Amino acid sequence: MAVARELPISSADRTGAPGSGEAGEDAAALAERHLIQPWPLAGSIGAEARSPIESGDGIHIVDGQGNRLIDGPAGMWCVNLGHRRQELAQVLYDQAMQLSYNTPWYTMNTASALLAERLAAHAPGDLSHVFFTTGGSSAVETALRFMQFMNNVRGRRDKKLILSRGGAYHGSTYLSASLNGRPRERDWMDGADALVVKLSSPDPFRRPAGMTVETFADFLVDEFSETVERLGAERIGAFVAEPIQASGGVVVPPPGYLKRIRALCRAHDILYVSDEVVTAFGRLGEVFASGEVFDLDPDMITFAKGVTSGYFPLGGTMISERLLSELRKTNNPDALFGHGLTYSSHPIGCAVALKNLDLLEGGALDHARSVEPYFQARLKELEELPLVGEVRGLGLMACIECVADRESRDPLQLDKDVGRRIDAHCQELGLLVRPLINMCVMSPPIIISREQIDAMVAILREGISRTMDDLRREGVWRG
Ligand SMILES: Cc1ncc(COP(=O)(O)O)c(C=O)c1O
Repeated sequence: MAVARELPISSADRTGAPGSGEAGEDAAALAERHLIQPWPLAGSIGAEARSPIESGDGIHIVDGQGNRLIDGPAGMWCVNLGHRRQELAQVLYDQAMQLSYNTPWYTMNTASALLAERLAAHAPGDLSHVFFTTGGSSAVETALRFMQFMNNVRGRRDKKLILSRGGAYHGSTYLSASLNGRPRERDWMDGADALVVKLSSPDPFRRPAGMTVETFADFLVDEFSETVERLGAERIGAFVAEPIQASGGVVVPPPGYLKRIRALCRAHDILYVSDEVVTAFGRLGEVFASGEVFDLDPDMITFAKGVTSGYFPLGGTMISERLLSELRKTNNPDALFGHGLTYSSHPIGCAVALKNLDLLEGGALDHARSVEPYFQARLKELEELPLVGEVRGLGLMACIECVADRESRDPLQLDKDVGRRIDAHCQELGLLVRPLINMCVMSPPIIISREQIDAMVAILREGISRTMDDLRREGVWRG
């Protein structure tokens, strides 16, 4: 089958780029001696060089060998408007030349106030205020520390437990990471376990045998109610949930389930925190998905990544007017929310986010909404391949989950590296995949065109077919 393969970027374009040629080899040697990459294994920590990426342009990145690849994961779900956007780069420069930093402890900058107002206008319910952070983990951390502070000020010092779910990913700081529900990381990392209670993953594909999706939703809601009953609502401060679990494998929950949990949270005075670090800023065709897509009005929304399309590290926590006014009413002269980051409300991040929002409102959101059905329909065709158990997703995020056997949906024998194998083949063919054990997650820049979606799906089909051939040849799979 013909697979789209674009030409490598010319060597002239690469001249001087860090990571190219000799500089690239030097960089690899230096990384192996001095750099610690995120999520390393003990056996290679501090001694590892990962694939150098030299440049990017639109939905493409260029690797150390000059190969041009479709950026399937949009970096880490963040380069929503694509690479090398002149408009965004210019704002970075202009803002840095005007004001590169101001202390948020004693001063403020205009960009942060303008951005807060624009975000409040997009947010559902009464989410009128923003606390800006440096990324997603610090946004989740802010939401949780705010809940603790609020309950302390209101004299409810025992109302601090946090409900989270299997399959969740909320970050890499101590408290946010304590919420994570993916088994492999929790085996080796400590967490604030006394503060966190885990509920079941809302993954319909992995629902208990014999349940329909509707009865699975009932099961999840009942489990929530029973947990509140068992622990006591007076001890539970917050429920934290991604509307779609992203790193957990693009888990789209059963219809209506989130809304039912939201209602229970309100009834029990438990704060509902919607973690939109991935789902906001166009990934689901809206600035925020909680209200527009899921009909939710959370007490807090956390965001990051796409807010600047990855051009500057920025995140934030939207907080409801109701909560803030209740706090103000206490009028306690000593109660200090002792929480702040040197880079809270960073002027460059906020200026870039304003331009990013202009571009989203000025056509990118419309474009995302127009290509979403095509993106999902084309990827769904890959279910024809026997290694593929399910293709699922919403908006411009999707997951191809591979299984050893479709009947039993057994991923175990394939767990180790089927995603990595598919990724290796796809990279040869011109696509970077985000492999997750037995899954391939796709979340390209939202500016992707129909033709580019066709190219992406053709490469995936070929990459999965080649992987099936390898597995058959090695005798580890008989599909
Ligand atoms: C849903 C969600 N929340 C929080 C985070 C943490 O964000 P960051 O890596 O910017 O700290 C992530 C990162 O992938 C995420 O997917």
